Amino acid sequence: MSPTPLPAESLGFAFADEALEARVRAGLQSVEQVLRESTQSEAPFVTAAAQHVMVAGGKRFRPLLVLLAAEFGPEPASDDVVKAAVVVELTHVATLHHDDVMDEAALRRGSATANAAWDNSVAILSGDWLFARASDLVADLGPEAVRIQARTFGRLVEGQIRETLGVGEGQDPLAHYLSVVSDKTGSLIATSALFGARYAGAPDEVQESLRAFGEEIGVAFQLADDILDIASASDQSGKTPGTDLREGVPTLPVLIFRAQADPSRPDDARLLELLDSDLSDDARLTETLELLRAHPAFRQAEDDVRRRATDARKLLSALPEGPARQALDSLCDLVATRSV
Ligand code: IPE
Ligand code: IPE
Ligand code: MG
Ligand code: MG
Repeated sequence: MSPTPLPAESLGFAFADEALEARVRAGLQSVEQVLRESTQSEAPFVTAAAQHVMVAGGKRFRPLLVLLAAEFGPEPASDDVVKAAVVVELTHVATLHHDDVMDEAALRRGSATANAAWDNSVAILSGDWLFARASDLVADLGPEAVRIQARTFGRLVEGQIRETLGVGEGQDPLAHYLSVVSDKTGSLIATSALFGARYAGAPDEVQESLRAFGEEIGVAFQLADDILDIASASDQSGKTPGTDLREGVPTLPVLIFRAQADPSRPDDARLLELLDSDLSDDARLTETLELLRAHPAFRQAEDDVRRRATDARKLLSALPEGPARQALDSLCDLVATRSV
């Protein structure tokens, strides 16, 4: 009988090494159990609101990265490693609650968002509550873990704020976008890799190599997400396509398009007109999505993601060879080509 599929397998992740697979499977199962245990409130409504998005699915990419990074230390299966994986996933889910309020999103992980199932107040407060649970757990890992977590969350929130503010006068839009992506997404993925290595007892230089790898792969992960916002249907992504466009958040394909748009070409002129208009209208949004998907700028954006995943892979050469490094290597391919 084949084992129950793990959330991480929705990403298409396949293990090449059986012993590694068994350890990571066991780790992810413990993570699921602790996620549920640590989000039980005495108030049933709080438990329901906090667990709604958490249990709806999700790839558990950050816990997977914690567990793979933990393989570089002497104690990959320690309770602290599992706790660290729970901390990063709870933090991630808390930010999803808040992000869906910001984006007025209705669909997440194939289910109603917390704001759609209840309202913005419930979504925000249950997100805060999840963050409080993460803070409680991270305290068990010691003051340095609390500091790392606080700084990570600070960077993530600054990224979200800078995205909302948009590019400043005289600032390069692409540079602004990439620095927002590092802060809002690279930060927590970098900390996932660092936490895994650290709480498995890996040496300092290995922790640093994994942190740097996490930051790079995290940026590629968000660029791929931004491509999927344009390319992927909701039955695949579990989210509503075109959300970034509707919210007026310029992402990589749009930035590349704008930099090379030629208004003398009818398709370019129409796309520019649409991008500058109110895209809350469904027909206009659909037309924008179609024009963007067909534009060479979209292909260039895909190439860019692949290049970034290759750059992340290069950082792995600083790590000891073995099945865990090989697994991280295949993760780079997946991040660049993922469809969920
Ligand atoms: C979504 O993250 C938000 C981003 C930072 C791109 P994921 O793509 O990891 O979402 P889940 O956890 O699988 O739902
Ligand atoms: C948000 O980015 C990343 C976070 C830090 C939560 P997106 O707005 O692209 O995430 P999705 O597409 O809604 O998951
Ligand atoms: Mg969003
Ligand atoms: Mg997105």
